[in-house]
Amino acid sequence: MASKPRKTTAAGSAGQPGESSADHRVLPLVALRETVIFPEMIVPLQVGREKSVKALDRAVADDSFIALVTQRQAEREDIENPDELYGVGTLAKIAQVVQAQDGTVRAIVQGQQRLRLLGFETTESYISARVELVNDETSEDLEVEALVRTVQGQIEQYVQSGAPVPPEAAVAARNISEPGLLADMVAYSPDMTTEQRQELLETLDVVERLKLVSTFLARQVEILELKGRIQSEVKSELDKSQREYILREQLKAIQRELGEDDPQQAEVAELREKVEGSGMPEPVKERALKEVDRMSRIPTASPEVGVIRTYVDWLVSLPWDKSTADNLDIKQAAVVLDEDHYGLEKVKERILEYLSVRTLSENNRSPMLALVGPPGVGKTSLGRSVARAMGREFVRMSLGGIHDEAEIRGHRRTYIGALPGRIIQNIKTAGSNNPVFMLDEIDKIGMDFRGDPSSALLEVLDPEQNSTFADNYLEVPFDLSRVLFIATGNLVDPIPMALRDRMEIIPLPGYTQREKAEIGRRFLVPKQMGNHGLKPRNVEITDEAMTTLVQSYTHEAGVRNLEREIASVMRKIARSVAEGRTTKTTVTTRKLSQLLGPSRFEYGELEPEDQVGAATGLVVTEVGGDVVAVEVTRMEGKEDFILTGQLGDVMRESARAGLSWIRANAARLGISRELFEKNTLHIHVPAGATPKDGPSAGITMVTAMVSALTGIAVRKDVAMTGEITLRGRVLPIGGLKSKILAAHLSGARLVILPKRNEKDLRDIPEEVRSQMKLVLVENMDQVLAAALRRKPRPLKPSPISPPAAEGDEGGKGATRGRNAPLFPPQPPAVA
Ligand SMILES: Nc1ncnc2c1ncn2[C@@H]1O[C@H](COP(=O)(O)OP(=O)(O)OP(=O)(O)O)[C@@H](O)[C@H]1O
Ligand SMILES: [Mg+2]
Repeated sequence: MASKPRKTTAAGSAGQPGESSADHRVLPLVALRETVIFPEMIVPLQVGREKSVKALDRAVADDSFIALVTQRQAEREDIENPDELYGVGTLAKIAQVVQAQDGTVRAIVQGQQRLRLLGFETTESYISARVELVNDETSEDLEVEALVRTVQGQIEQYVQSGAPVPPEAAVAARNISEPGLLADMVAYSPDMTTEQRQELLETLDVVERLKLVSTFLARQVEILELKGRIQSEVKSELDKSQREYILREQLKAIQRELGEDDPQQAEVAELREKVEGSGMPEPVKERALKEVDRMSRIPTASPEVGVIRTYVDWLVSLPWDKSTADNLDIKQAAVVLDEDHYGLEKVKERILEYLSVRTLSENNRSPMLALVGPPGVGKTSLGRSVARAMGREFVRMSLGGIHDEAEIRGHRRTYIGALPGRIIQNIKTAGSNNPVFMLDEIDKIGMDFRGDPSSALLEVLDPEQNSTFADNYLEVPFDLSRVLFIATGNLVDPIPMALRDRMEIIPLPGYTQREKAEIGRRFLVPKQMGNHGLKPRNVEITDEAMTTLVQSYTHEAGVRNLEREIASVMRKIARSVAEGRTTKTTVTTRKLSQLLGPSRFEYGELEPEDQVGAATGLVVTEVGGDVVAVEVTRMEGKEDFILTGQLGDVMRESARAGLSWIRANAARLGISRELFEKNTLHIHVPAGATPKDGPSAGITMVTAMVSALTGIAVRKDVAMTGEITLRGRVLPIGGLKSKILAAHLSGARLVILPKRNEKDLRDIPEEVRSQMKLVLVENMDQVLAAALRRKPRPLKPSPISPPAAEGDEGGKGATRGRNAPLFPPQPPAVA
């Protein structure tokens, strides 16, 4: 502020407001509300208050100069006192006055110069004020120069950032060289408040004024930029979804142009049609349509679309109301069963009874059938045959390879790749809601299970529950009550109890050799000839060769291996035919060994000679009845006795009980005390790799032990089965038919069995019974009497031991149980 103040305003040079000294004047005054007029500003003024109008009139009447000063409080109506106005205002020249109809006046005024209000002369009809005109305080130095440039730059920035001012403002700012004016120009910004404007007006020092506007501008630019950032963020959010929307609309438009309608909507319509035509029950249809609706509402690209489509496809593809008509003709059914299977009279009869009941009443809640027997006896093919006899579809599901409950009942749809369980899958395959449904290998269930699959199966098989079978995936119930379930398995015992309760078990124990040969002749040979493209003129197998095939090339309860051997014969003959042979090949026993190599099984598995310390037992395994040799040796040394050959606990305990019986009866059996004290018995049941268990080898083990201890041989053609008690009684066993068939196959001439199994003998084919002697026993003495070559010689009674039987033949001294004569009269042999 070094140089003297000087007047620089344009107004100053254009219209000098009079020559009065020190620029003091008395002027009419108009009080302004919410507005501040600056020098050089040309603005329209709306004047309403009477005093203001009069002041205008006065000014116009004089020299058109007027003082414009802003009120401190805008709402103030009547100004009485200079304190009610700011101290600094503007001298303005009135350019024009227009009288409006409502009595207000519009005046156009041009600011001239700042003035300081000194006081009021009068406020009678208008305010007449004493004022002092003031000039900017400025100097031409670098600071001003720098400030001017700064402010110009800021104004430009302000305009570019989107300030609410015309864009020309920036250009105008560049062209103003007067620093004070430049600062005043910023007052045009609508962002500035009345107070800020007034402050600007009051700041006479130009440097200060420039600093003031510079601060103001900097702040405004910052606000604008922040505002811009916020807006652009909001905008980009909006843009993305809007873009997608627009693109999708465009896609639709393009498809319409190309004549391709929206594929999803077309699919939705198609699905809806399928649902309508699927014959679903009403609640299921509702459910399906709801899903279809949901599909039409989600974008095509959503993975959900595929999930819904698969689901509805499943619902649509199930045979809700499709069923096959049953063949109600039981005679016809019997013919079909006979056509497919040889023998099995009892089984077929049972099946026909079952079918009769089912066909008589639709709602019959009979338990399902379970066919149980060794492999290859025709369980599966019998099921197929039942379906054919009834005229129903046939589906088969193996429970053997199943891992958890979800395989039966399906996975919930929330899992990725979920599908219905195997029950529903098979129903779909069947294409009808009343197929014959075979559950194979039901005895293998629960062996490698994670969930509890048998509970899911229960729901399937229970006639009370299966009309509303709930698959996890379908979520809607499916009626399984018209399905005919048939289960198969190799053994009864492993079938879970709860399932067994709901089944009627039909045993298929296996075939005799004659039956097998017959099946081979009537069924397997024609079938395999067909499979290999051979005609009766190409090949014939003699009866004798067929018997040899059964006896010497196979060793099984069923006919699966027989079928395989026949197939291999046919293969070889087919080859010779293909090589040009035109004459018929007759397969004789001799030809068989040329085709198949030497026979694999000797007729009979029994020991060729009488043996000491070995006896033949009968067992039932997964592959049917079988014979096993029990071997016992006696060694020096005093150990507990040894049991080997993968024996189960029950079998081990049975051996111990048997040994105790022998010790208790040692004297009678001619076995000395030292023999027990100095020796160790080793019992071995060969074929050590297969685990064995059960009590039915009891009498066999005792017989072998007695033989080993006494040195008396066991007859070679005897096979036996029966459980033994500590007191030497013989208890009944299971699987009798299978065991007797096995004994017959192995060539046994005499079979020892518990008396209490007598009732089961009805099932044994006549041809078998006629070829063997069956001995029914009640106690161990009877077993030994039948099995050993000769009677043991009892020892002389020792002084402390109870009186034993007297004499070799016994009898006279015998009083009770264990002292009874060793060899009572032989029990009557059956057959
Ligand atoms: N009585 C029979 N008459 C005619 N063919 C038979 C007879 N029994 C079995 N077969 C035939 O033997 C073959 C094996 O039968 P199938 O497959 O039904 O045995 P399975 O009892 O189901 O055995 P697995 O327990 O191993 O499943 C089939 O070709 C079947 O037709
Ligand atoms: Mg089978």
